[in-house]
Amino acid sequence: MKFAVAVLACSMTLTAAARLKPDATVSAQAPDADAHKAWMNDATDLQEDIRDAMRAQDGAKIADAATKIEALMAKTEAYWSAKKAADVVTLAQTARSHAKDVATLGKAGKFDQSNEAFGKLNTTCNTCHDLHPEKR
Ligand code: HEC
Repeated sequence: MKFAVAVLACSMTLTAAARLKPDATVSAQAPDADAHKAWMNDATDLQEDIRDAMRAQDGAKIADAATKIEALMAKTEAYWSAKKAADVVTLAQTARSHAKDVATLGKAGKFDQSNEAFGKLNTTCNTCHDLHPEKR
């Protein structure tokens, strides 16, 4: 909800800016960056869902949350692909691959292996953050 408000406020500012300067190229960067942050916060919520589902050994819930993270990482991949940041794209692909493993293994009831893939996924989140691609 907080994010929806932030995105709304931001797009209103952009609309106002566009009205003031009809010929100016209003950067698409700002709302994109907000969307990117929203995906990341959703991914964190889903990470929490996976932790809970691992404890409960609920394969269907693990698979559901991991599949959603995979979709968010696909968006992340497209975002950085548009910015031609090849190393970041590769990390997003790695995250997708680990998320798929978490889902498949979780669904199959292989919780130890699923949890291992989850650990790799979480490491990939941190590896990408340590690169600070948003500062490029
Ligand atoms: C391919 C790169 C990449 C991967 C993989 C990645 N992130 Fe991020 N994440 C970023 C970048 C870049 C930022 C900083 C965005 C900004 O400040 O504009 C970020 C920021 C965040 C934030 C802070 C958002 C905010 O409101 O400022 C959270 C939380 C987060 N990521 C969670 C995750 C989780 C959880 C995963 C793994 C499931 C993950 N990220 C995987 C690139 C990545």
